[in-house]
Amino acid sequence: MSDGGELAEALRRIFERRRSAATPSDILGILGSSNNDGNTAALASAVFAPLPNAEIISLSNLAIASYDYQNRHDSDDFLPLAEKLAAAKTIVFASPVYWYSMSAQMKVFFDRLTDLTKAHKELGKALAGKSVFLIATGGSPAPPSSFEPPFAETALYFNMHWGGMLYQPGAEAVNTGAAKSFANRIAGGDREASARAA
Ligand SMILES: Cc1cc2nc3c(=O)[nH]c(=O)nc-3n(C[C@H](O)[C@H](O)[C@H](O)COP(=O)(O)O)c2cc1C
Repeated sequence: MSDGGELAEALRRIFERRRSAATPSDILGILGSSNNDGNTAALASAVFAPLPNAEIISLSNLAIASYDYQNRHDSDDFLPLAEKLAAAKTIVFASPVYWYSMSAQMKVFFDRLTDLTKAHKELGKALAGKSVFLIATGGSPAPPSSFEPPFAETALYFNMHWGGMLYQPGAEAVNTGAAKSFANRIAGGDREASARAA
């Protein structure tokens, strides 16, 4: 699906959009793929291209340790990312299907959300009311039925609103029409989340 330099440049622009703390991104994408220039990144960048005040952060560029019952990893990259999540209105996860489930990077990140139910409860509470979406690619024509529920259930656990999934077989060219209509859905979910936050 990758289109060489053009895609890499588009991704670089999206990844490198810098936001100051005073103007956090309304729409925050969390990419969990082993390839920052891969199929999931391509689909996510097509969806994000028309969205204003949006950015994608790749978990592969961060150091986030596995969940620890004693919270010994408080100084890694998880908490700054959790603060960005808390400041956003809408969260968009992007993961390939790896062995019938979310990527390992995404699973480590999801396990660390446990920190937001214990030592950092205030950040967990701040997630309530946000809209959440999922972008996914896989080798099969359709995702496994077990793929979407952990994302949807986790969103509901934190009292967020589940907006649904866009899935595409990774080997196919990005379906720009589907990407655009999912971007519209995300923009609608973001307006609803903003209204809930007002
Ligand atoms: C480690 C690994 C495991 C995979 N497991 C599956 C799988 O269980 N089901 C599937 O449909 N595709 C599977 N695939 C194919 C990927 O989901 C597909 O190529 C995807 O578009 C890759 O996205 P990426 O470029 O972001 O890594 C797997 C690929 C890899 C590298």
